[in-house]
Amino acid sequence: MLIFNQGKYKSLLAAEEGELDAVAALVATDQDFRPDYHLVAPFGLINDPNGLVFDGEKYHIFYQWYPYSAMHGMKHWLHYTTPDFRQFTLAAPLIPSEMFESHGCYSGGALPLGDYIAAFYTGNTRRSSDNARIPYQNIAVFSKDGKLLDKYPLVTCAPAGYSEHVRDPKPYVTAEGKVRFICGAQREDLSGTAIVFEMDNINTPPQLLGELNLSDFDNRHIFMWECPDLLKIGEQDLFIWSPQGKQREAQQFQNNYHSTYVIGKLDNLDFAVEAFAELDYGFDFYAPQTFAGLDNSQSAVMLGWVGLPDLQYPTDEYGWHSTLTLPRRLTLKNNQIYQTPLEQYYPQKLTALSLQQATELADLDRRYLKFNPQNNEFTLQLFANPQGQHLTLSYQNGVFCLDRSATEQTESMRGLGEQRYCAIADLQQVEIFIDRSVIEIFLNDGEKTLTSRFFIKNRQNVLQSSRRLEIESAVLAPIAYLAE
Ligand code: FRU
Repeated sequence: MLIFNQGKYKSLLAAEEGELDAVAALVATDQDFRPDYHLVAPFGLINDPNGLVFDGEKYHIFYQWYPYSAMHGMKHWLHYTTPDFRQFTLAAPLIPSEMFESHGCYSGGALPLGDYIAAFYTGNTRRSSDNARIPYQNIAVFSKDGKLLDKYPLVTCAPAGYSEHVRDPKPYVTAEGKVRFICGAQREDLSGTAIVFEMDNINTPPQLLGELNLSDFDNRHIFMWECPDLLKIGEQDLFIWSPQGKQREAQQFQNNYHSTYVIGKLDNLDFAVEAFAELDYGFDFYAPQTFAGLDNSQSAVMLGWVGLPDLQYPTDEYGWHSTLTLPRRLTLKNNQIYQTPLEQYYPQKLTALSLQQATELADLDRRYLKFNPQNNEFTLQLFANPQGQHLTLSYQNGVFCLDRSATEQTESMRGLGEQRYCAIADLQQVEIFIDRSVIEIFLNDGEKTLTSRFFIKNRQNVLQSSRRLEIESAVLAPIAYLAE
C-alpha cells in the first residue's frame, strides 16, 4: 500500500494529525449555505456520483471526493449505503493507494455480484518520466456491508486510436450474461466518443469491442464524452452521457459542459436514436448516473452532480464545494425523460398561501413550493437581504427563466451568464425544492428541470410575486448521516 503525498495529489492516508479536523472546523463556520437534505461531503469537494448500485437490500452511493479543500485534487470515492435514500451510513471509501490509481480514483459505475459489489473505476495516473497521463480501468470489490476486499487493474492504457482521455467505465450485463463496460473517450483526432469492453466475468481480461454508434447525433465540436450510462426503461433503451464542447444555444446547452440523453433501440453497439435532449436547464448540473442497467426494465433512479467542472463557488472559502442532486426517478412519456424526486422527498402535508405582496414564509430556504401558473406569465422573487439580493423565477412567452444576477457569484459563475432559459409549452405546474444554496425546479411533473446553486447571505425568507399565485408549501426534513 502506497501513501501518495505530492502537492494536490495527497491521499487521505497522508493526513497529518488534526488536518482533517481543521477542514471540518472551517466548514462549520459556514452559517448560510450548507444544505439540509442534499448529500454533501463532510468537507472538501464533491463531484460526480459514482458506483450507484442496489445490492439486493440497500443502495450504495459513492461520489468523487477531494477531502482537503474545495479543489479538484486527489480524487477518492466516498461511500454511503442507504436503505431508503433518507439515512446514509458511511462505508469504506476508495482511497488511491496503488500505482494503478496514483493520481486519483476517477469516476465509474458498479455491478451487484452475489455477495459482493464490483466497482469499475478509472485509475488516473501520470508516468513519472514525462508526466503523461495514463488511464487505467480498474475494479474494486466491496462486500455488501461496505468493506473493501480487493482492487486490481483491468486495462492498463488507452487503446490504440484514442488519446489519454479514456475514463468513467459504467458496467452492465448483456442478455448473454457477459459483463460489458462503456467508457467515455476521445479519439486521436480529438473528437468525443464512447468505447465498450467485454469480459466473460470480472476475473477475465476485457476485450475492446468498439465504439457505441449513435445514429443521427451531431458530434460537431465535441471533444470528449464523459460519464456514459446505458440503461433500459420499459421497452426503450437509453444512453445518458456528458459531452464536452457542444455549442451554446439561446435556450439550451447554456453551461460550459452539458448532460444529454438519447432514447431509442440498442443493438449490440448500434444505437438507433429516436429522440435526443438535454437533461437539465439549470446553472449547475453535470455527470449524472443511474442505478439502472440494461437488465433493469422498470424505472431508473438517477443522481447528478449539482456543479460543473472549472467553477468556483462562494463556499470554497469555507472548505466545501457542491452537492449531489436529489435522487430522481426517471420515467418516459412522449419519448422524453421525465424526472421527479423520489416519493420520500415529498412532504406529507402542504400549507396554502395566497401570494402577492412580499410575504415572509418561515424557513423558505428549506421548503418545497408548488403552484400552477395556468400557463400565464409570472415573476416570482425569492429572498431578500440588505444588499438587495434575491433570486428570480419567471415565465413569459413559453420560456421559463431562472435569474441569479442579483445573488452572490464568483467570477467563474458570472462568466457563464446570469440567466438560464427553458422553453416549455403549456406550463401547468411548478415545483421547487429549496435547500439553502441549492434549488431544484421541476416543471410540468418533471418534463423539464432546472438545477442550480444560489448564494444569498443574511437572507430574509421573503417571497413576492407579480400577480396572485396560489402556492402550497412545506418545510422539508433533513436527511441523516450515520457513522459506519
Ligand atoms: C466529470 C469528470 C470525469 C472524471 C472525474 C474526475 O466531472 O471529469 O470524467 O472521471 O470527473 O473527478
